Amino acid sequence: MVYGTAVEPGQELPSIAVAPPGPRSRELGARMAAVESPAFDARRQARAARSGEDQGPIVYAAGRGANVFDVDGNRYVDLTAGFGALLLGHPPNAATDAARAATDELVLALGDVYASELKVRACEAIAGLFPEPGARVMLGLSGADAVTCALKTALLATGKPGVVAFEGSYHGLSYGPLAALGFAPAFREPFAPHLGVPVTFAPYPSSAGELGASLSAVRAALADGSAGAILVEPILGRGGAVVPPPSFLPELRALADEASALLVADEIWTGMGRTGALLASAPVTPDVLCLGKGLGGGVPISACVGRAAVMDAWGGHGGTRIHTGTHFGSPPACAAALATLETIRARDLPARAREVGDAWRAELGAACAGRATVRGAGLMVGVELADASEALAVSRELLARGFIVLTGGARGDVLTLSPPLTIEPALLGAFTSTLAELLATRRGGLTGPSSGASAGERPAR
Ligand SMILES: Cc1ncc(COP(=O)(O)O)c(C=O)c1O
Repeated sequence: MVYGTAVEPGQELPSIAVAPPGPRSRELGARMAAVESPAFDARRQARAARSGEDQGPIVYAAGRGANVFDVDGNRYVDLTAGFGALLLGHPPNAATDAARAATDELVLALGDVYASELKVRACEAIAGLFPEPGARVMLGLSGADAVTCALKTALLATGKPGVVAFEGSYHGLSYGPLAALGFAPAFREPFAPHLGVPVTFAPYPSSAGELGASLSAVRAALADGSAGAILVEPILGRGGAVVPPPSFLPELRALADEASALLVADEIWTGMGRTGALLASAPVTPDVLCLGKGLGGGVPISACVGRAAVMDAWGGHGGTRIHTGTHFGSPPACAAALATLETIRARDLPARAREVGDAWRAELGAACAGRATVRGAGLMVGVELADASEALAVSRELLARGFIVLTGGARGDVLTLSPPLTIEPALLGAFTSTLAELLATRRGGLTGPSSGASAGERPAR
């Protein structure tokens, strides 16, 4: 298949007119710091103190395709795509066009009381993503909503409150998902008194050699029969694009079956084509699937999709709607999800993500050999550097050169890259050579990604 012969708008190389953050970004950044939660500015200040460098934010003005424009007139290549949500790139695109058209007709129906036709169609389409027929759907707005719903489903369906989750995993920050967040205990600890879900964490295997220990920990956690769910990301997202060995999910499937627990696949980051397949959990059939981020192409919508037999548990409450929300399943969000799915299929974006992503990761790996470890699947990519300080410094140097990236990984030492699935390979190539040049300049003769990794930084986003 030939991709991207006609170059779309928003596929341009960076153009930095003013060193970021420019004056307008600084002014707006200061105003933002004065009104938003102090947590965000405190993180910037801590990073600035640690790195000895300015960590001031840029402020976005507009986006188009794979480009972002800041309020100072700089143009960037966006390798984050709104934390991976903008699968089709920044607007205009099919999802935002559909949402706009739906908004003009009907912005809100009446949730679980009276649906819109768009909600009916979206639920049918989303149920159709589940690997077996008859699946049921519960919509939400955020990824955390979908995981909350999955955890509730597991409790209703099994009667067992325990959850087995994984170190390094991220499932959102509302209370249910937070209890199961293995990414950084620091996120959970301040709220521990509110987190009632009994969760046991097992190591997430990053290689075949680590598989045995991980599965033994899962087995041990299931042994007393109190766990109703194994909650797993098919590939760790915020945890740094960690790809487990291929037998990991099938083994978890078998363990869940033995223990009469549900297997919950959190595909909020991996789903909808990002990793080179519509679902990264295939060919395993989970009991419950969580979708979000890219589901609406950037328009907020998420879904908890479950096997018919499991979701039946929701029907046993005397007709009381025990899980709903004002904005769940709004017509614009449903229109966006339908259009996103249609576009993903029409353009075969999973195949594109696989081909473009495989070539990019190979190119990155070769260009950064000895200085970084490249991993991932499709267009979900992690570049592991020496340590968190280097990852932070490199991310700022990349910003100065017009590439927007995030740092991630449980140690904060990974550049996490999740561009739109529509990005032109030329932009990825420009990123590769910029990164290779930066690393060569920074570390010259040093080899290996780990020349004394400091345990310093908290995970970053
Ligand atoms: C795998 C995974 N699950 C859940 C979430 C939470 O999604 P949200 O931030 O939309 O609540 C995220 C967000 O990054 C995620 O990566």
